[in-house]
Amino acid sequence: MNASQFNVEEIRNQFPILQRSVNGKKLVYLDNGATAQKPQLVIDSITKYYSYENANIHRGVHLMSQEATNAYENARTTIQSYIHAAESCEVIFTKGTTDSINLVAFSLGETLQKGDEILISYMEHHSNIVPWQLLCERKGLVLKVIPIRENGELDLEAVDNLLSEKTKLLSITHVSNTLGTINPVEDLIKKAHAAGAKVLIDGAQSIQHFPIDVQALDCDFFAFSGHKVFGPTGVGILYGKKQILENLPPYQGGGDMIAKVSFAKTTYNELPHKFEAGTPHISGGIALGKAFEFMQQLNLEQVIEYEHSLLMYTEEVLSSFNGLRIIGTASDKASVVSFVVDNIHPFDIGTLLDKQGIAVRTGHHCTQPLMDFYQIPGTIRASFALYNTKAEIDLFAEALARAIQMLK
Ligand code: ALA
Repeated sequence: MNASQFNVEEIRNQFPILQRSVNGKKLVYLDNGATAQKPQLVIDSITKYYSYENANIHRGVHLMSQEATNAYENARTTIQSYIHAAESCEVIFTKGTTDSINLVAFSLGETLQKGDEILISYMEHHSNIVPWQLLCERKGLVLKVIPIRENGELDLEAVDNLLSEKTKLLSITHVSNTLGTINPVEDLIKKAHAAGAKVLIDGAQSIQHFPIDVQALDCDFFAFSGHKVFGPTGVGILYGKKQILENLPPYQGGGDMIAKVSFAKTTYNELPHKFEAGTPHISGGIALGKAFEFMQQLNLEQVIEYEHSLLMYTEEVLSSFNGLRIIGTASDKASVVSFVVDNIHPFDIGTLLDKQGIAVRTGHHCTQPLMDFYQIPGTIRASFALYNTKAEIDLFAEALARAIQMLK
């Protein structure tokens, strides 16, 4: 099996937005780390839901409510099966990765004591830093940070010194959104468990690139957003081990998360509903199920190989640019390339690329500590998805050369 067997045109045909133009040029969308585009079956599912199926779930006796409930719960089961969760009640619908992490920070945080430690890493997105800082302030906990090396890999030797019996949770990204580094989460989970800590994996940048098996990983929590895995915005997932979730207090109070409410005492619903207060993003959850049906049809080994070939090609093409430095050169990387160009601000390059139809992200990518580490204001980031092509990388490189020429 090799990347050339991957039929990218067949994939591209399922994503209508890839046909559009931007600033009079054919779109080259290289901002998939920020959000991925949507295949037709996801778009159709949203249209169909609001055209024919809209009803609230878990509440009505009427047929439409039952149909909507079934569709929503079927989506949960599809996602459970994709990530290999043991039970569907371990799959909690949230608003996205940020919401999933905040849920754990609140509910697990309620069980922690002053002096307990949370361990994160230097390459975390702000959404895996700030919730822990808020918790540390609220409960008197201590936040510890795993350092990184210049190439953007974790300093694994430091992990052993940072883990102790005080560590209650290691919360770490699977793939860095800025550097593309794939962290050795299997080893980290084993080490953290040996120290008695639980582990949360931020899968926002991994779930769209490779298969996830939460049981094989043995992580305690796994968080991701729907919109980066070809689903809608505003919906995401928190996977948690049943036995852990059952022993945590709820995150938010409201309808659907209760068993019985009285002014004297309220009892809570069973999983997953205990963590799903209020009317959820029903169409979003159903459409996220469709996004995973799209993923299920793929040969993920081919996808991995194809995306890796895009990464290798981009790094090779960029190596011929004078004064260009790639930020993040880990040996194990997802298809994300961040770079800076001597004496030119990333924003200026991003703006001139956009004028030529190329969409990239520029800035700190919600990883300001990482920017401080590299002593740069930001990077230009090209982040790829399975529908990108080498021809698009050629267009990107030509546009980049023109932009640099104009800005020099
Ligand atoms: N976290 C998203 C990114 O990396 C928004 O662009």
